[in-house]
Amino acid sequence: MTFTVTVQPSGHTFTVERDEAVLAAAIRQGVGLPYGCKDGACGSCKSRLKDGRVIHGAHQLKALSPAEEEAGYILTCCATPQTDLVIESREVVGAGQFPIKKMPCRVSRIDKPAPDVAVLKLQLPANDRLQYHAGQYVEFILRDGSRRSYSMANAPHTQETQPGIELHIRHMPGGKFTDHVFGAMKEKDILRMEGPFGSFFLREDSDKPIVLLASGTGFAPIKAILEHMEHKALARPTVLYWGCRRRADLYLDDWAQAAAARLPWLRYVPVLSEPTAEDAWSGRTGFVHQAVMADWPDLSGHQVYACGAPVMVESARRDFVAHCGLPEDEFYADAFTSEADKH
Ligand SMILES: Cc1cc2nc3c(=O)[nH]c(=O)nc-3n(C[C@H](O)[C@H](O)[C@H](O)COP(=O)(O)OP(=O)(O)OC[C@H]3O[C@@H](n4cnc5c(N)ncnc54)[C@H](O)[C@@H]3O)c2cc1C
Ligand code: FES
Repeated sequence: MTFTVTVQPSGHTFTVERDEAVLAAAIRQGVGLPYGCKDGACGSCKSRLKDGRVIHGAHQLKALSPAEEEAGYILTCCATPQTDLVIESREVVGAGQFPIKKMPCRVSRIDKPAPDVAVLKLQLPANDRLQYHAGQYVEFILRDGSRRSYSMANAPHTQETQPGIELHIRHMPGGKFTDHVFGAMKEKDILRMEGPFGSFFLREDSDKPIVLLASGTGFAPIKAILEHMEHKALARPTVLYWGCRRRADLYLDDWAQAAAARLPWLRYVPVLSEPTAEDAWSGRTGFVHQAVMADWPDLSGHQVYACGAPVMVESARRDFVAHCGLPEDEFYADAFTSEADKH
């Protein structure tokens, strides 16, 4: 038995199999609904149910509150239809553009630019290229079938000269996958992955100035977006804010400094929340999203792309919209949710 979902205002329709989530069916059929974690934790897939009935699987209250559920909102990633549906959702142009493939990959290099950050270079079969939008992510499929998501840190065109993809992985002690990355993983290991996924990428149909906001390894997809902008000569005025705790955590500070020196349209503002005397830091301090608000009290004409810790992404979304006049639909984000956010 299948149900039909109609998306408004686009009028696009797609089918959902019995017991399938709305989002899974949309991704399978290349329909560009917005999403992030695919697992009820980030809220990026929130849509309004205008007609029909769904059953909601487990999800976090911060992704969808009881009041929002009461007001007719659903999370498409964990809602299975009981009838045909009409939903209201923005559609993301280009989200379903590239085939989603499962493939093995080989770890060709592991670097540790900071004590808790690993930069992995992965080689694809027969030096194949992965087609994706800068900002998207892949999922590793672990032995027990569970999955972990990581954003590509290199723009797709860079594979022409250096085959493979680059990921930036922060160690979360006690974490199933990252304990392995910082423990037994070695070069030449084979991993299984699937991708590309995600709707966090540059909206190229806009010419608004851009704020890029990263915390920790949230810098990865932001780096890919900057490489893509340079490659495509997209010279929209852009400010990059990168927030970390300490100086050593700005693991590609040199890369960002060099990009800002090379690109006349780019400014770079590193922000430390807990610098120590040893850091001898004379730059900006505090929470990174508050540094943006101090510099840009009026964001009504901007687009913001934010990536990294869920608490940073959520604070930025809330405060930029409430206090800086940012239109809610000009805030694009991937929150790096983990098991810690789901319990
Ligand atoms: C769209 C997306 C993109 C992402 N991109 C990146 C990226 O580019 N770089 C990056 O570093 N990360 C990224 N992440 C986060 C990444 O997917 C993982 O969640 C993260 O690396 C942790 O994985 P893990 O298996 O090591 O830890 P997990 O096993 O998920 O555990 C995470 C933490 O929670 C604790 N924990 C485990 N189980 C429980 C429980 N039941 N209750 C309470 N605490 C628990 C663990 O001890 C650990 O500290 C992304 C996430 C998303 C959703
Ligand atoms: S809550 Fe649905 S994609 Fe994150």
